[in-house]
Amino acid sequence: MADKDRVFIFDTTMRDGEQSPGASMSLEEKIQIARVFDELGIDIIEAGFPIASPGDFEAVSEVSKILKNSIPAGLSRASKKDIDACHEALKAAPRFRIHTFISTSPLHMKHKLNKTPEQVLDAIKESVTYARNFTDDVEWSCEDGTRTDMDYMCKTVELAINCGAKTINIPDTVGYTTPSEYIKIITTLKNKVPNIDNAILSVHCHNDLGLGVANSLAGVSAGARQVECTINGIGERAGNAALEEIVMAIRTRNDLMPYSTGIKTELLSKASKVVSNATFPVQFNKAIVGKNAFAHEAGIHQDGMLKNRETYEIMTPESVGVKKTSLVMGKHSGRHAFKEKLNDLGYADITDDVIQTAFGKFKILADKKKHVYDDDIMALVDDSLITDNQINAISLKSLKVFAGTGEPQKAEMTLDVYGKVKQATEIGDGPVDAIFKCIKVLYPHDVKLQLYQVHAVTEGTDAQATVSVRIEEKGKTTVGQAADTDTLVASANAYINALNKMIIKRDKTAPMEQENQKVRGI
Ligand code: KIV
Ligand code: ZN
Repeated sequence: MADKDRVFIFDTTMRDGEQSPGASMSLEEKIQIARVFDELGIDIIEAGFPIASPGDFEAVSEVSKILKNSIPAGLSRASKKDIDACHEALKAAPRFRIHTFISTSPLHMKHKLNKTPEQVLDAIKESVTYARNFTDDVEWSCEDGTRTDMDYMCKTVELAINCGAKTINIPDTVGYTTPSEYIKIITTLKNKVPNIDNAILSVHCHNDLGLGVANSLAGVSAGARQVECTINGIGERAGNAALEEIVMAIRTRNDLMPYSTGIKTELLSKASKVVSNATFPVQFNKAIVGKNAFAHEAGIHQDGMLKNRETYEIMTPESVGVKKTSLVMGKHSGRHAFKEKLNDLGYADITDDVIQTAFGKFKILADKKKHVYDDDIMALVDDSLITDNQINAISLKSLKVFAGTGEPQKAEMTLDVYGKVKQATEIGDGPVDAIFKCIKVLYPHDVKLQLYQVHAVTEGTDAQATVSVRIEEKGKTTVGQAADTDTLVASANAYINALNKMIIKRDKTAPMEQENQKVRGI
């Protein structure tokens, strides 16, 4: 592909993205993110706004030191102090970019800057010329570009290029433009600014009308060759154009958008995760990196997918680094799709009996829970394997728990112990204590509880809980696990599972008869 079709990716997750409420990142997080971005193949990484705070300064400075391939950039207003701070923060890098900006729309010039258009022209001349003292990689942005008078914008762009700017960025600061309008702006600049070929035109779109990505791609189609964007689309208000969406749109529809980027798309999921861990979770239905982006629930879609993935998949999950297609199972999913799912999850050689048991549990779970995810399925297959792999001395028949304020917590339990059905009612210090006391009454034992842990398998209040219990007896330990949407049922089963394993462990050192006599004596 010719150089003229190469689109440079300028990431501003750590600068514009961080301006999103709740998205502030620590220095360590920024360094971790920068390493992933460097590996991802981002061309320019805007790591912060050095004059804004000592934290921003330090982040730009530290990120600049670790990048191996990407070019670090810092933001500055049209002021010498800002540009000096930028240079100070970036100077450790062998190559760096100073990104300086000033507003050019009538609204911003009058109300925000209190400057005349002529004064703004002077500021552009002074700032770009000054920045060029430190690097020949200077980018200039006309803030609120899409609400700027076109003739005036042409003047500002020509001036900035004459002063040495190598990249000219036209931000849609308030997410106001549309694809056709943006094409017109970029085309006008291309046609009317005499020195335009001496710079790369760049797009920078906010997402207030949900058009950030569409506008960015429109800008590229009109001749822009740099896209400013953020991972997960984070940014001021409704965010910035999402990097992963732009890159995957270009890759997937290369027939219509014959451009290339340097992004290793297989690392997009990893980049998304590292950003969401530092900021906030990605919505489930987010394109490319959302949990549901490659999920298919409707039976008819699942069936099509099993026959040929391309029926409902325009790009593979692997191409963005998602290991497996997440076929979300619901109550309408059949046995065939369930079996296929088990295969995908690596349960290739389990017996039909286990599949049958797990499928039964899955149907019950799907009735209680709107979506059953991979992790849910793994939890219930593991549960079925536990039951299948051992002859259980003890099993739970029923459980009723009385909990809440005021009354003491009480558990009523029925257990099958070596084929005998037994019942007990116990009061405890909380419902779990009452449950464990019942088990002790029905199967007297002398183990110590070492650990009790509850994890939600997936998100949401209807999530399954996985409970882990570790017990110890005469130096031997066993761990029991169980999953259920009812945490208390999972707790009882996890404890019973640990006991069953302990009985097996004892059996390995003592004759079976000894154990049976003990049980018969209960
Ligand atoms: O949205 C915007 O205008 C910006 C500039 C500072 C480039 O983020
Ligand atoms: Zn912005």
